[in-house]
Amino acid sequence: MDKATVEDLSGSTLRGARVLVRVDFNVPIEGDGSVGDDTRIRATLPTLRLLIESGARLILVSHLGRPKGKPDPKLSLRPVADRLSELLGSPVEFVGETVGSEAKKAVDALAEGGVVLLENTRFQGGEKENDPELADALASFADLYVNDAFGAAHRAHASTAGVAEAVRRNGGSAVAGLLVARELEALGRVRENPERPFVAILGGAKISGKIDVIEALLPAADRMCIGGAMANTFFRAMGLETGRSLVEEDRVDMARSLLDQAGDKLVLPIDVVVADRVEAGAESAEVPRDEIPKDRMAVDIGPETIERFSEVLADARTVLWNGPMGVFEIEAFAGGTLEVARALVGATKRGAMTVIGGGDSAAAITGMGMAEKVTHLSTGGGASLEFMEGKELPGIAVLDDRDTMEAT
Ligand code: 3PG
Repeated sequence: MDKATVEDLSGSTLRGARVLVRVDFNVPIEGDGSVGDDTRIRATLPTLRLLIESGARLILVSHLGRPKGKPDPKLSLRPVADRLSELLGSPVEFVGETVGSEAKKAVDALAEGGVVLLENTRFQGGEKENDPELADALASFADLYVNDAFGAAHRAHASTAGVAEAVRRNGGSAVAGLLVARELEALGRVRENPERPFVAILGGAKISGKIDVIEALLPAADRMCIGGAMANTFFRAMGLETGRSLVEEDRVDMARSLLDQAGDKLVLPIDVVVADRVEAGAESAEVPRDEIPKDRMAVDIGPETIERFSEVLADARTVLWNGPMGVFEIEAFAGGTLEVARALVGATKRGAMTVIGGGDSAAAITGMGMAEKVTHLSTGGGASLEFMEGKELPGIAVLDDRDTMEAT
């Protein structure tokens, strides 16, 4: 990676330094106020431990959810501080504001190896606008900036972009954390130099959100398997009956041109599971793709498709998966997603590099207990998609280049 990382900072630079670490603690908060899936918190532990053991003073900042630029108690990071403290096995002080005198007091009182977590950055109106005043206020807490928030790296916000520049202006370094480095390494290998055959598996509800990634990956991939409701728009483009399935009418022409462009690279479902409604207990059946009844909707890929996708995966050396194959939140419609996950685990065992591009497919594979059995599970949803599309991520672009960084 051409960006400097925490590992490029010397022990003497880190000891006693105040380090502002942007993390992505945008995790699900359950009804009882506790943290649900804590994958994103765990993923930052290597960076946090390295900094703690180096005697740095850690100031952690993150967003949670999408509050409207003002405090929303349901989106407080307080529960995250508790979970992080359990995981680290040491105290994490939570501060109920992002900037201000209370935050400053907590930062000033930090001991070497101490950790404070400031309140949700999006409670501040200026966060999403990348407001320079907010960026300066955050930078005033720190000697150094570390970005370990891969999931938020596609956002040019005050805590992901402006603050890095402000810390640098003040004479400090702005570097990547170990999680960001790991993500860029794994996703970068798939994007730049995949071992072949390279298979992309794309799913999810809509073509519209994935069109750029389909276009970016089509020339590079040897095969592209399409599942999820996205496949329905392709069925419509092929002139098939899609019943009450979700179809993006305004993307049918686009699907048609992708079909022409892709030739036999594109592997579409041969059969689907149809249901009368998207609910547990719905009446369902497996049908060939050209026999979707008018009053039914496709909710998962069918058994023949699972077999076909598994065959495609059998000799793959690199696999990228983004998007579930069906409505996996409902057990009866989770079969396709489960079997694709199993096929990926099988490919990993045979030595393939398997990468899950975050978001719903990451949640699915984590829920199915297979997260540890693939090569890399990205913590980014939108960020990993934008990266695979070849876009520059503002939160990464703003960091110091390794070769221009002075020896520190
Ligand atoms: C995510 O969950 O993808 C990241 O935390 C970014 O969240 P956002 O889409 O609300 O910016």
